[in-house]
Amino acid sequence: MSARPPRWLARALVATALIAIPLSLLGGRYVRLGADWIDGDSCVGCHRQQNPRLVRQWIGSAHFDARVGCEGCHGDDHEAMFGMDGAVSSKVCAECHAQAYEEFGRSGHATTLADATGNGRFLAAPAAIQRQGCVSCHAIGRTFPDGGQGQCNFCHTGHRFSAAEAREPRACEGCHLGPDHPQMEAWEASKHGVVWRSLRDDTTAPTCVACHLGGAAGHDSTANLTLGRVASGAVLEGTPAPVPMKTLTRAEFDERRARMIDTCTPCHSSGFAARHLRDADEIKIVADGLLAEAADIIRGLERDGLIDPMPADRPPHPLAGHAMVLGGHQLYSDTSPIEQRFFEMSKFHHSVAFKGAYHFSPDHTHWVGYFGLQRDLTFVRGEARRLRAEAARRAAPPAVAAPPVEEVVDAP
Ligand code: HEC
Ligand code: HEC
Ligand code: HEC
Ligand code: HEC
Ligand code: HEC
Ligand code: HEC
Ligand code: HEC
Ligand code: HEC
Repeated sequence: MSARPPRWLARALVATALIAIPLSLLGGRYVRLGADWIDGDSCVGCHRQQNPRLVRQWIGSAHFDARVGCEGCHGDDHEAMFGMDGAVSSKVCAECHAQAYEEFGRSGHATTLADATGNGRFLAAPAAIQRQGCVSCHAIGRTFPDGGQGQCNFCHTGHRFSAAEAREPRACEGCHLGPDHPQMEAWEASKHGVVWRSLRDDTTAPTCVACHLGGAAGHDSTANLTLGRVASGAVLEGTPAPVPMKTLTRAEFDERRARMIDTCTPCHSSGFAARHLRDADEIKIVADGLLAEAADIIRGLERDGLIDPMPADRPPHPLAGHAMVLGGHQLYSDTSPIEQRFFEMSKFHHSVAFKGAYHFSPDHTHWVGYFGLQRDLTFVRGEARRLRAEAARRAAPPAVAAPPVEEVVDAP
């Protein structure tokens, strides 16, 4: 990659139209840096008045160095640009970055908008919450009108489109945080995050990208994952899952795990890495077991008609109607207290126990995750006993009134 043009050159180019640079026309997408380049009726000429900082970012970018002009991404039809709200389809990026596009298309990132908009919680939410509270993160996997899959500028933003920006853990932070997927917080609390933040040296401690992007897998952030997938993770094929989870075969597991261990070996022995990852697998399986016990208890109550209110007596779920939903598409509202507690158990504490373990944060694994799971399960067991005792009391024949005490004492 060539260096940025010197500031004086950039300034001179924009401020005057005197420097004529040899034409470099490739399929009309590359700028012609000629005398008319910054005329008032050229893209740059007009937009350096409209959005001077935007144009300056582009001048500092690899695209400027490579002579990729405004038209290279936006085309030259202003009306069409307004129709797109200024956005550029990833299919356009793909014309020059076919490999990145293809790799990205294989990752979970590419389809994540459809995953969100098909979810029960999305369908049950008000429109502005859907836009600001779901789509704003999940649009990384949007589909453009021309079929382009994924929005490239979420990690390297316009108009610098910098690879270095995307390598920063901060590039992932806006989405990968919070109570259900605290990868950022867990990484920060791990030895890796602590060392990296102290030394800011990628060769000493790994950032998100070292384990998930770049390298052999390129833009396919899914390539190294096994049981530690998004949402509630995955199970090996044939293993029952307490709530909806992805599945993978043993062969897929081995192949993916080997790829992950390859990312560790520049700094650790493969044995060390394998042992620590095996511990995280075990924690995922323990967490699944606790979740399964709670799910069985709640499903048993529902079978016996003891959930209060029963699914038949509340507004229908947008996908499941009057069936009870645990995990996956489970809603926050219009359920019952014991299901609400199960929501916290599966969405937050189950998730954090294994996501914390795969990111080597003892605090997330234990205090937030494992302790949270045990506390939830204790509550679910207790609430089930209470609901069953109450039902037994309701079902018992009315008690015969006991005779007054005097009568008993005075009896001959
Ligand atoms: C004569 C001035 C002029 C020229 C020439 C011009 N634009 Fe624009 N462009 C504008 C103005 C004004 C806006 C609206 C700005 C606003 O809303 O703040 C705009 C908006 C845009 C938008 C945003 C659309 C949206 O809905 O957000 C893009 C993208 C854009 N122009 C790209 C280009 C490209 C590429 C070219 C060259 C092919 C170009 N413009 C040529 C003046 C110009
Ligand atoms: C490498 C591709 C690429 C090039 C080159 C490029 N743009 Fe863009 N542009 C984009 C993308 C992607 C977006 C959408 C940004 C977003 O979603 O916020 C965008 C958005 C815009 C917008 C509207 C969004 C905003 O923040 O106002 C304007 C205006 C715009 N570009 C003008 C230009 C101009 C002028 C040039 C040339 C100096 C240019 N672009 C060069 C990819 C490009
Ligand atoms: C007309 C061809 C063309 C189009 C269209 C294009 N690029 Fe590029 N891009 C290049 C060239 C050439 C380079 C410099 C060489 C390289 O890194 O491949 C580059 C470099 C990059 C880099 C690396 C920058 C760095 O810091 O090293 C990123 C990231 C990038 N482009 C993203 C995008 C995105 C996102 C889009 C679509 C919004 C896009 N490009 C559209 C040609 C293009
Ligand atoms: C704009 C939000 C956003 C940004 C920025 C973002 N991600 Fe994601 N990421 C998501 C979403 C949403 C998913 C869930 C994908 C799905 O639906 O399966 C995801 C999934 C993933 C997965 C799991 C993929 C799978 O198939 O299970 C990994 C790993 C990942 N992201 C890593 C990263 C890294 C590393 C960065 C920063 C370089 C990053 N992400 C930046 C939103 C984002
Ligand atoms: C989840 C964050 C993320 C998204 C989304 C993303 N990238 Fe990248 N991109 C990166 C990272 C991180 C690097 C730097 C990788 C490295 O240095 O090993 C990078 C590097 C690049 C580069 C320069 C090096 C190379 O691989 O050629 C190009 C070009 C590029 N991306 C294009 C794209 C295109 C096109 C898209 C959309 C299809 C896209 N990126 C979407 C994170 C992302
Ligand atoms: C030292 C390597 C390493 C680093 C650094 C790292 N991760 Fe991970 N990540 C993993 C492992 C290991 C898994 C689970 C792999 C499996 O399923 O076998 C994982 C899984 C994930 C997942 C899927 C859900 C989950 O948490 O299990 C996402 C999303 C993710 N990581 C994002 C990130 C983000 C964002 C960062 C930076 C803040 C990051 N990771 C830093 C190793 C790492
Ligand atoms: C702060 C950003 C953010 C917001 C807001 C957000 N999500 Fe997510 N979502 C993510 C990330 C990041 C992942 C993947 C990481 C993980 O699960 O470990 C994800 C994962 C998911 C998944 C799992 C996808 C799969 O492949 O199984 C679904 C479904 C989902 N989100 C739906 C929603 C819905 C519906 C909303 C709004 C009610 C929403 N999300 C709001 C960032 C967000
Ligand atoms: C760029 C170098 C680098 C990479 C890559 C890397 N690590 Fe580390 N890791 C470190 C450093 C540095 C430490 C702190 C070592 C110390 O405490 O002396 C560390 C510590 C750890 C610890 C904590 C050990 C403890 O005793 O607390 C675990 C677990 C770990 N790494 C696992 C992994 C795994 C698994 C991978 C691959 C998925 C990986 N690391 C990738 C540099 C790296």
